[in-house]
Amino acid sequence: MSNQQPRALWASRLGFILAAAGSAVGLGNIWKFPYITGLNGGGAFVLVYLVCIALVGLPIMMAELMIGRHTRRDAVGAFIQLEGRRSFWLSAGWVSVGAAFIILSYYSVVAGWTLDYVYRALIGSFSGQPTEVVEGLFSGLIADGPRQIAWHLLFIVLCLSIVIGGVQKGIERWSKILMPLLFALLLLLFVNGMLSDGARQGLAFMFRPDFAKLTPGSVLEALGHAFFTLSLGMAAMITYGSYLSRQENLFAAGLRVALLDTGIALMAGLAIFPVVFAVGLEPASGPGLIFKTIPVVFSQLPGGYLLAILFFLLLSFAALTSAISLLEAQVAYLIDERGWGRPKATGFLAGLAFVVGIPTALSYNSLGDWHLIGERSFFDSVDLIASNYLLPIAGLLIALYVGWFWKGTEEKEELMAGGAGWTYPAWHFLIRYVAPLAVAVILYYKMEETGV
Ligand code: PHE
Ligand code: NA
Repeated sequence: MSNQQPRALWASRLGFILAAAGSAVGLGNIWKFPYITGLNGGGAFVLVYLVCIALVGLPIMMAELMIGRHTRRDAVGAFIQLEGRRSFWLSAGWVSVGAAFIILSYYSVVAGWTLDYVYRALIGSFSGQPTEVVEGLFSGLIADGPRQIAWHLLFIVLCLSIVIGGVQKGIERWSKILMPLLFALLLLLFVNGMLSDGARQGLAFMFRPDFAKLTPGSVLEALGHAFFTLSLGMAAMITYGSYLSRQENLFAAGLRVALLDTGIALMAGLAIFPVVFAVGLEPASGPGLIFKTIPVVFSQLPGGYLLAILFFLLLSFAALTSAISLLEAQVAYLIDERGWGRPKATGFLAGLAFVVGIPTALSYNSLGDWHLIGERSFFDSVDLIASNYLLPIAGLLIALYVGWFWKGTEEKEELMAGGAGWTYPAWHFLIRYVAPLAVAVILYYKMEETGV
C-alpha cells in the first residue's frame, strides 16, 4: 500500500536535530559509555570509539536518514518503495523494526529504574547513608518485580502520551523541551565534576591513552557501541529521516546529531569520573557504575542530595527521548503499511511493549531460574538477541544495500550534496567498504563469543 496523504514533517531544522539527538542521546551515553570506558582503560578506548563513530557510525546514520527522507515511509515500506516491489531487502526493514520492538521492551524497564532513582533521590534515600545501604538499594530494586513493573508501566505511559501527539505536536515539541533541559542538567553536573577534587584524575582517565589496556575485545566493544549510541539498525533514524524536509542538508544534519551524541557522552564521562575519583572509588565498576557507585558518590559529597536528583532526572530525560523514537519507528510501520490511525497504533504497541517488558522486570526475581539462551536470564537474552544480532544484521544489510544495490547513484549523490566536494566520495567509500566490513567483523565475533 503506498502512502499518498501529505506526510507530517518536522516543523523546523532545530526540531529535527533535537529529536534525532534525543533518540541518539540515551542510557548509552550516560550509563554505558562511561562504564565501558572505565572497563577498557579510558583514553585509548575513547580514541578508538571516536574512530568507529567517524568511519562506521556516521556513514550508516547518513544512509538511514537518506533512505527515510527519500522514500518518506517507515523502515519496512522504505525498502518496498526503493525496490518497487517486495524483495530480499525488506528483511533490512523487518529486522530494524523487530529490533526497535525488542529494545523498547527492556529499555523501558531500565528507564523505570532511573525513575525509581529520581524518586529515591527526592526522598533522600542516599544522603548520609553508609555505602552498603546505598549499594543495597539496587539489589533491592532488581529483586522487587512489582516495583519494577510499576515504574516500567509509568515510563511506557509517558512514551505513549508523547508519541500519540504525532511528529510535530508530540515528538518535536517534547524534544524541544526535554533536550535543552537535559543539556542544562548535564552542564551543571559537568561543571561540578570539573570543580571537584577528582577533576585532574578524571580528565587523565578519559583522555590519557593507555594502549596496554586496549584489547581486540575493546575494539569490538567500541564498534558495537558506536551502533547502539547513534540509534542505528533499529529503524529510528530511517523513520526520523522520513519526516525531514528535502531542503535540509543531510550531511550537515547527520554530522550535527553524531557530534551532539559524542559530545554528550564525553561530557557525561567528565561529569561522572571526577566525582568518583574525588571520593576514592573505582572507575571500572561495570554496569553498576550508575546505579551503585554514583549514588554512593552523592551520598558522600556536599550538595549530593541535589546532585543526585539532577543526575537521575538527566538520565530519565535521556531515556525518554530515546524510547519515543523506538516507539515511533514501530508506530510509523502500522500507520504507513497497515493504514492504522496513530492513536490505535500507539496504544497497541505501547501495550505490547509493556507486556513483553514484564519478564525482563522479573528476570532477577520471580523468573530468576528461567534461562532462555544458554545460562542467560530473559533480560540478558533479549538484550543479546537485539544488540548482538539484530542491530549489526540490520546495519550490515543497510550498508550493503545503500553501498552496492541502491541503483539511484545520482540520487545518492544529490542526497549527500551540501558538503564539500570530497564528502560524497568519502561517504561512498566508507559505506561500500569500511562499514560493511567492520559490521561483519563485529557480527562474526559476537556470534563466536556467545556461541549461538
Ligand atoms: N541511542 C540510544 C542510547 O544511546 C539507544 C537507542 C537505541 C535509542 C535505539 C533509541 C533507539 O542510549
Ligand atoms: Na547514544
